[in-house]
Amino acid sequence: MDVQPDDLPDGLVVADGAGRVVCFNAAAARITGRSREEALGSPLHTALPLEDLDGRRWWQLTDPYRGPAIRTAQPERNLLLPGGHEVLVAARYVRNRPCGPVERVVVTLRGTEARRRTERSHAELIATVAHELRSPLTSVKGFTATLLAKWERFTDDQKRLMLETVNADANRVTRLIAELLDISRIDSGRLEVRRQRLDLPTVVRRHVEAHIAAGEPASRFRTEIADSLPDLWADPDKIEQVLANLLENAVRHGEGTVTIEVRPASSPREPGAAGTAVTVSDEGPGIPEESMSRVFTRFWRGSRRGGTGLGLYIVKGIVEAHGGVITVERAQGADRAEAAPRPQAGAGARAEDAGASGARFRFILPVGAPAFLA
Ligand SMILES: Nc1ncnc2c1ncn2[C@@H]1O[C@H](COP(=O)(O)OP(=O)(O)OP(=O)(O)O)[C@@H](O)[C@H]1O
Ligand SMILES: [Mg+2]
Repeated sequence: MDVQPDDLPDGLVVADGAGRVVCFNAAAARITGRSREEALGSPLHTALPLEDLDGRRWWQLTDPYRGPAIRTAQPERNLLLPGGHEVLVAARYVRNRPCGPVERVVVTLRGTEARRRTERSHAELIATVAHELRSPLTSVKGFTATLLAKWERFTDDQKRLMLETVNADANRVTRLIAELLDISRIDSGRLEVRRQRLDLPTVVRRHVEAHIAAGEPASRFRTEIADSLPDLWADPDKIEQVLANLLENAVRHGEGTVTIEVRPASSPREPGAAGTAVTVSDEGPGIPEESMSRVFTRFWRGSRRGGTGLGLYIVKGIVEAHGGVITVERAQGADRAEAAPRPQAGAGARAEDAGASGARFRFILPVGAPAFLA
């Protein structure tokens, strides 16, 4: 196959054994702002007048043609073009035999925008994490210091209250750290999915029971589980985490009845293959239309009742690691819509009607059966 230098996404500059530029591709012209005609035939150091961050001339410093004969490359580094324009530069010195003269110097150039962007998002992530960890730790520190200093002055009830707060905040920190570890696995593609036969209806019922045991009225939940579901192979711990997060959100951020439906569906990514769809909907305020695209991003939280805003990011990461998809929409509050006559579009639609439709999260998992069962 014939790959042309202009096909490369990176800048490519090649100089011959005499240090004259013989190749200057389109990306190199774009990155340096010089034309190919200008560059071809001119010495490498004038076609590509690079300086390091201390302002030293790069080609003089590295001297590919007269430098140590064992040198075969320059690792990628951040250099400056005239005008202070940053670029990532790497070079290879091509010799026909080991330690022989340099026949060609091959230089690649890359813009730094993409790297800057990831650096910025890393810095933001660290700042947010530090902030999230600080508030519970401040309370842990404050209450323990107070208790240690004035133990005798508090009644048992006061001490208990402080210790309960410390306990809850320590739990928050632990949970946050577990979430951050999940996020780092998701972001680096290391989230492992250990598939086994999973009885989804049982898991759903167990999570509902847990909420009821924790004090929610049983009437707050409705489960609708289809009679025949395809066998599902998924990672039990992770799917539990997904359900736990969605239910917790529906209870905490939503209102009214929380409905959980489990139905057969067609697999989201392989047309014709089977899958299972789970819908969790509530009758609360729902997610404002303009925020729907952001609910699955990390640290986004809408209400004051919010936690850290990591739950749905992790949910999405887990569902996608299973080859599934997750979406959010407005639940139209099916029961109410049927019971009450629909308001006329326009004039009749009141703010309360718009608010009467909660959030509906729906994820679809492919059955994920192992190859030996297919
Ligand atoms: N069922 C829901 N109804 C209304 N708003 C919701 C619902 N589920 C999520 N949200 C909104 O989406 C935001 C992000 O949810 P997410 O689960 O990612 O974070 P969180 O619940 O705030 O914190 P965490 O889950 O990390 O403890 C929430 O803060 C809330 O504003
Ligand atoms: Mg949540």
